Amino acid sequence: MRPLIAGNWKMNGLSSQLGEIEAIAASVTATPPFTDVLICPPSTLIARAAQRAAGRIAIGGQDCHKEAAGAFTGGISAEMLKDAGASAVIVGHSERRQHHCETDAMVAAKAKAAWRVGIQAIICIGETEPQRRDGKALSVCSDQIAGSVPEGMVSSANAIAYEPLWAIGAEGAATPEEIAEMLTHIRHCLVGRFGAKGKTMRILYGGSVNPSNAREILALPEVGGVLVGRSSLRAADFEAIFRAVSPKA
Ligand code: PGA
Repeated sequence: MRPLIAGNWKMNGLSSQLGEIEAIAASVTATPPFTDVLICPPSTLIARAAQRAAGRIAIGGQDCHKEAAGAFTGGISAEMLKDAGASAVIVGHSERRQHHCETDAMVAAKAKAAWRVGIQAIICIGETEPQRRDGKALSVCSDQIAGSVPEGMVSSANAIAYEPLWAIGAEGAATPEEIAEMLTHIRHCLVGRFGAKGKTMRILYGGSVNPSNAREILALPEVGGVLVGRSSLRAADFEAIFRAVSPKA
């Protein structure tokens, strides 16, 4: 399975930044990387980003509503994302869980909405710093998988992103040992619940991935890609990350 290198622009990006997407797409065309490349800009840029990308890289949303349409002011449905040219959506990012009070059940419903329209769902999980300190990191993540990954969703088309909250927007990423331990645990949970199909789902790591640490993280067992915040905003940084993957021997 090719690794997925996904960029999450969060609430950053004006029309003037579309050139970064153009530059990433041009680089991918000039020298195809050994990865899938996805950028999730703010919703206001999705349609124009998709036009500029012209299929050379994938464009995704950062969240979606569980319903297809209706009286939900400010909401954006998976149908709308797809219509704008998105082929993926991040659901359950910790910033949504924290600041928008999203529960596991809500995240699962959003993932199902993505599935309904045939776009990829990237389901985020991750523990807080106090939870890790109390030795609860593994159980918090298993509970989030149990609650946020709907039945039938397990396939290589979808992904789990493990993003420990203490490593997001931080000075440094989780250590290779912490990442390896958690991703092995996540795989174990997926296989325990979904059997052989649980082996097919991509597991990403996210939290302070940058051009300097990407190679080491991407080489870890079970790491099927990365979800990148700050270092996806500039084409040069993001390119250094997807170029950090060499073909498997
Ligand atoms: P960061 O964000 O790379 O800036 O730490 C990652 C994320 O929140 O997806």
